[in-house]
Amino acid sequence: MSIEEDIARLYAQIRPDFVPAQAYHDPAFVAREKAMLWPHSWLMACREEEVAEAGQSVVFDIADDSILIVRASDGVLRAFYNVCPHRGRRLKDGNGNIGDNIACRFHGWRWNARGENQFVLDRENWNQTGGLCAADVDLGQVRVDTWDGWVFVTLDSDAEPLESYLDPLPDVFAHFDYRNTRIAWHKTLVVACNWKVVLEAFIESYHVAMTHPQSLKFGVRTPGSQAFGRHSYFFYPFVRPKDAEPGLTIDYRQARYTYVEEMHRTLGALQGRHAMAAAERLMAELPETATFDEVNAAYMRFHADAMAADGARYPAALTPQDIARAGTAWNIFPNMVILPTVDGLQAYRARPNGDDPSSAIFDVWWLERSAPDAPSSFIHEYFPDMESFAGQCFFLEQDFDNIKAVQDGVKSRGFRGVRPNPHQEVTVQSFEKTYYEYLLWPRGEGADT
Ligand code: FES
Ligand SMILES: [Fe+2]
Repeated sequence: MSIEEDIARLYAQIRPDFVPAQAYHDPAFVAREKAMLWPHSWLMACREEEVAEAGQSVVFDIADDSILIVRASDGVLRAFYNVCPHRGRRLKDGNGNIGDNIACRFHGWRWNARGENQFVLDRENWNQTGGLCAADVDLGQVRVDTWDGWVFVTLDSDAEPLESYLDPLPDVFAHFDYRNTRIAWHKTLVVACNWKVVLEAFIESYHVAMTHPQSLKFGVRTPGSQAFGRHSYFFYPFVRPKDAEPGLTIDYRQARYTYVEEMHRTLGALQGRHAMAAAERLMAELPETATFDEVNAAYMRFHADAMAADGARYPAALTPQDIARAGTAWNIFPNMVILPTVDGLQAYRARPNGDDPSSAIFDVWWLERSAPDAPSSFIHEYFPDMESFAGQCFFLEQDFDNIKAVQDGVKSRGFRGVRPNPHQEVTVQSFEKTYYEYLLWPRGEGADT
């Protein structure tokens, strides 16, 4: 049976509550992803703030390809294959500032930041074979576009535009104003599992009760999940607490403060320093008898004050309906997750690490609201394995505690396949189904459903 027939056979087994497990560990899937998934999706490469100035460049590696993203002096953002058209040497190793000059260290060919070749040593030598034209010597262009401050690339010249690929996210997030954020921190770590295992650990809330039991004290939630084409989201909203019995008081200030403080301390994201400042003012300035609505109104005011003190803008156009519609977290197909809050945006990205199906590169960002012209200033930390991440982030370590064990488990011949919760893990099932469709048909177009 060919790998294509094998994938088609497994795809036919997918049901709302069943997904086969082979793709988590079979090297044939790594190869198939290289051929069908990575070259045909839009992939998040970096933030615009990392390539804001002329000459700034970012290297984004995905499977066997490396992409060089550059802002040229004409202000245009461009992306190129990070490979020399002469003999194939990789051109750049990491992020930096190339100015207007990219040089190959093998035989010295050079390009400007628009990817146009500027120099070929002994170019006339090629005259005996008809000479070299621009198409021979310029860098290979890659499509690049931006959304909400994120830079995306696609290797597929026929892929639909980014805006329609992302549908419905541009509409859902229209009022969140995430362009005006800056990276507060970025951590990259190598994890001992398939990239889909770590991705799927972050696209459902069904695990919260067991994996993050400390969260249960924050009250009743009504979890759910839903697919929107190739993307999907889950929601995990608070249920408004019942008003206190007559004669009994609930300290709603304390409840809000406890939540914000704990997320701030144990995750370092979702509730950042502006939220923390607002929560502290609640405790200092409101009486403990303040009602739920009074606490909410004051919190919003204090939150806006904290942002304004930084020159940042509170997203004033954001409505409670917008917040409810955005839910808790989205999987942006294939490999990105975003968790929106009023305070900022947390994001994850999972990629394969070489050809080992049991190793992945996982990125985590926390973006804070900032002045539109704020400079970019953050530390990017790299952790070569999960052990070196110990002590970095209590909340994420609770999640990471599962993923190696899941990777070990899904390989077992005794594991019958994933049984996603058809209410709370629609995200997992829908991601997997779309993933198989991309492996089977170019851009996933061709499935009957
Ligand atoms: S490989 Fe780059 S100049 Fe020869
Ligand atoms: Fe989690």
